[in-house]
Amino acid sequence: MCGIVAYVGGQTARGILIEGLKRLEYRGYDSSGIAILNDRPYLAKAVGKVACIEERVEADRPEGTIGIAHTRWATHGKPTEPNAHPHTDCSGKIFLAHNGIIENYQRLKKTLSDAGHRFRTETDTEVLSHLIESYYSGNLEAAIQRALQDVQGTYGIAVIHSSHPQEVVVARRGSPIVLGIGKDESLAASDVSALARRTDQVVYLEDNEIARLEPGRFFIKTLDNRAIRRETQSLETSPEAMDLGSYPHFMLKEIFEQPEAVENALRGRLNHSEGVAKLGGLESVTERLEKARHLIIVSCGTSYYAGLYARYAFETLTDLTVETELASEFRYRKLNIRENTVVLAISQSGETADTLAALREAKRKGALVLGLVNVVGSTIARETHAGVYSHAGIEVGVASTKSFISQLTILLLMALLVGRGRDLSYEEGEKLLRGLEEVPGQIREILVQSERLRELAQAYCLNSHFLYIGRKYQYPVALEGALKLKEISYIHAEGYAAGEMKHGPIALIDPSFPTIALAPEDSSYQKMVSNIQEIRAREGPVLALTTRGNTRLAPLVSHVVEVPANHSILMPLLTVVPLQLFAYHSAVLRGCDVDKPRNLAKSVTVE
Ligand code: G6P
Repeated sequence: MCGIVAYVGGQTARGILIEGLKRLEYRGYDSSGIAILNDRPYLAKAVGKVACIEERVEADRPEGTIGIAHTRWATHGKPTEPNAHPHTDCSGKIFLAHNGIIENYQRLKKTLSDAGHRFRTETDTEVLSHLIESYYSGNLEAAIQRALQDVQGTYGIAVIHSSHPQEVVVARRGSPIVLGIGKDESLAASDVSALARRTDQVVYLEDNEIARLEPGRFFIKTLDNRAIRRETQSLETSPEAMDLGSYPHFMLKEIFEQPEAVENALRGRLNHSEGVAKLGGLESVTERLEKARHLIIVSCGTSYYAGLYARYAFETLTDLTVETELASEFRYRKLNIRENTVVLAISQSGETADTLAALREAKRKGALVLGLVNVVGSTIARETHAGVYSHAGIEVGVASTKSFISQLTILLLMALLVGRGRDLSYEEGEKLLRGLEEVPGQIREILVQSERLRELAQAYCLNSHFLYIGRKYQYPVALEGALKLKEISYIHAEGYAAGEMKHGPIALIDPSFPTIALAPEDSSYQKMVSNIQEIRAREGPVLALTTRGNTRLAPLVSHVVEVPANHSILMPLLTVVPLQLFAYHSAVLRGCDVDKPRNLAKSVTVE
């Protein structure tokens, strides 16, 4: 979602800010803007891609060594130039970029309007610049600190003032801000990826903290004025991870990185002598985990589907009662959280607002809250009692791919760990560990079929609708496959539990409505074959995924894609890969912007 980058130092700011914005593009946005201080402040905004603002800035070539820039994903007010950030005050001296939502903006706007402030935009953000103006009397940081006390809602902000050409002030509550400290220059951003090229020394701001940045220096305090001493830490992400290399899109690159993603998820975590997983991040909560009776998994989007898979995995391998809940619905359920309840939040970004809200609620109710997060140091990672990092590496494509595979891998390890502490046998545990070790090689075998999946995409991509069906472990894969197709190719696709097909979707089946059937040879295979027959009887085209060597499906269906054999509980790690490739190629063939699909954001930081 929205992105912020700020710079103060000895270099011309414009190129650094534009480069930062490009690195934030993957988060999803619909307009952007930049403000640079010089003798006369410079402000430019543009609707559309960062390339549009870049073109304008390149033409104007503003000088100045301090500035802020923003990519906006519209919440309050359409994606227009006036609504794009940075926003100014009446004096035109303050420039402010904001991520998050100011919930009481209408009341603040009324008070400020009554006091004579003139508003020019439909945004909630603009009230902040006027509010700061109203408290400003020579000290920018103090004015911001005071203004934020009036604010309800969430924010990550960066502010500059033309009377303070050597300082950027940033603050956060609920929306991430990270500082990057270099030699004689300082940066701030909503995402470390915007800093990676300039410095590897970073500092994460906590909620309710404000920081003043000067060239090469930073000063943090809490909103209630307590000075905070915090050392910089070295950034783990290598700048190269943000590059495409020889791939045309990040999504394809990340699909091809999946064998390594699984290897990284497994590294150092397999204990063969005891047939169990070793998860260092959970050691501090071993006792409570041993006593747990009830697991609630909360997450959104692709991470939610990983959670659905985990429900089957935990139910198979442990005696826990498992519920999987959409984080956005968590607060509306009367979930019976007891002392022996564990809540597991799954999130790639570690910043998803609904997931964060759900975990805070679970903590309030006394549950042990665990996290499965990819981004190191993210808010969810920091706020959970304990957890595991997926170590999938930075994921840039909005459509999650390698993170999903990595989540499945670790969820399986978690279930194994809990299961072995109960009545899962050594043999069962060890069999799964050996199966897991085969997965990276098996994914590589599937990736080789990319061209075949492109041909299939070519044959099907003009269809307007798709049905994806699967049972048991393959049901979450059907949902994830349909999500991949709809989010990047804009083809309408529905994922269904195959057994539900007869309760509705079958009414849609005709020769122009293809079905993708997930039918590896497992315990539900025969039932899947019956569903396939029912679709064929209505002349619906079927593209079936099955286990390599199964020749019985080919006569029944239009096309077969084979994946290598493994334990049925591990097959989702394989069957999802052809679905990702199918979605990717369909989107490319339809001319879609694969890595930045319309209206979507990589990290959804508003509820
Ligand atoms: C957005 C992304 C999805 C992601 C979901 C949950 O919708 O586009 O790819 O699955 O958020 O994000 P999280 O970071 O919590 O896994």
